[in-house]
Amino acid sequence: MSVQEYLDKHMLSRKLEDAVNAAVRAKTPDPVLFISNHMKKSVQSVITKVKARQILDSRGIPTVEVDLHTNKGVFRASVPSGDSSGMYEAVELRDGDKGVYLGNGVAKAVKNINDKISEALVGMDPTLQSQIDQAMIDLDKTEKKGELGANAILAVSIAACKAGAAEKEVPLYRHIADLYGKVSPMLPVPAFTVISGGKHAGNNLAIQEIMILPTGANRFVEALQMGTETYHHLKAVITEKYGTHDCNVGESGGFAPNVSSFREALDLVKEAIRRAGYTDKIQIALDVAATNFCIGTRYDLDFKSPQKSGQNFLSAEDMVELYRELCNDFPIVSIEDPFDKEDWEHIKRFSSTGICQVVGDDLLMSNAKRIDRAILEYACNALLLKINQVGTVTEVIEVVKQAKEAHWGVVTSHRCGETIDSFIADLSVGLSVGQIKAGAPCRGERLEKYIQLLRIEEELGDQAVYCGVDWKQ
Ligand code: PGA
Ligand code: ZN
Repeated sequence: MSVQEYLDKHMLSRKLEDAVNAAVRAKTPDPVLFISNHMKKSVQSVITKVKARQILDSRGIPTVEVDLHTNKGVFRASVPSGDSSGMYEAVELRDGDKGVYLGNGVAKAVKNINDKISEALVGMDPTLQSQIDQAMIDLDKTEKKGELGANAILAVSIAACKAGAAEKEVPLYRHIADLYGKVSPMLPVPAFTVISGGKHAGNNLAIQEIMILPTGANRFVEALQMGTETYHHLKAVITEKYGTHDCNVGESGGFAPNVSSFREALDLVKEAIRRAGYTDKIQIALDVAATNFCIGTRYDLDFKSPQKSGQNFLSAEDMVELYRELCNDFPIVSIEDPFDKEDWEHIKRFSSTGICQVVGDDLLMSNAKRIDRAILEYACNALLLKINQVGTVTEVIEVVKQAKEAHWGVVTSHRCGETIDSFIADLSVGLSVGQIKAGAPCRGERLEKYIQLLRIEEELGDQAVYCGVDWKQ
């Protein structure tokens, strides 16, 4: 289309005149800026280009970053990646060429965006999230997004969501709330990782994470302070007991002391909470990630120990008893993946005790069918939401609806391989999930999520509501 045809089609001469008149009426001190903003609003935005590149996540492993261009700006998003993966989650496309980044390159996913996805999306309105996501699903044609790669699709989906918010001139969390329909935004309770173990650290601790939840805070800013102070007290407690070398941190920033039992690690955390002065205001959550150490029907608590004696195997019944005792002796309110991901029998039995929130991560893989089954069988009562296991913003919203309709809790989660994208912070507020797990209150890629929540709380001002004691939502 020639410029003249474009001007005629959009009646820009008339709109320019309107903009000049509006600037005069508004007595603006900066007419050029006023007129250009006015003109920008008068043309509906469309996607003009989608350009991806390979970047690195926080572990130094390749991942996808995308710049989605509209005629109003450029919107950037990148996707995380984790250790755990399962057959029910969306497929992360990796090149597999062992000579390049040890097979972890994402050049194919990047190419899929730059060629096929870009071609399919150019001209679309960025506010129409579900149509954009559907266009990519249709293009992929596979059930688990293995053709284009869920890493490619999600990066574009998030970037489009940011562009949609900008087009509507609303904050990202507000746009997400609109997509969900009728949600009043709330700030989630952060679950800060303070001790790392399992596959996330080189110590002997079998359990993957011990987290602290400042449920007794009144605002998010206070929760961040409480969590951070406790984290620093914990560093001092560990140093006194084991020396500074045990203060090395795991992939999500939690300390990785070489403790020999769950109980020993929990004692350290309890002492740190006490020293920080937050007993009764901070509660504890565990991510056992028990699939990592389930051998047949038994659980090997020494699975990382170099001197395995083979003495520390527990049956699933023993594990139930252990959890019962720990919940009694420590302020534990939530346990994630307490059993192997296929051990439905014991997770059901444990959930039925009602001792604490039971979160399904590896059990569910954020998969709608697994969630359905878990709802029907009362297997757990909270969803760990890993957005890259789902693949599009629209489907993420659907699984959150599914969990909420079952009156489950929802924990929006980072992955161990993170980027500086803070989308999950806005997502948590927009969907009003009660909990967010984004690692320790340190390390840039973790902090970016928490700091975005601070900014949102500040922006909401008097309207800001921190979930606090209502963290189960
Ligand atoms: P992952 O761990 O990102 O390594 O899968 C996160 C979790 O298990 O919660
Ligand atoms: Zn987990």
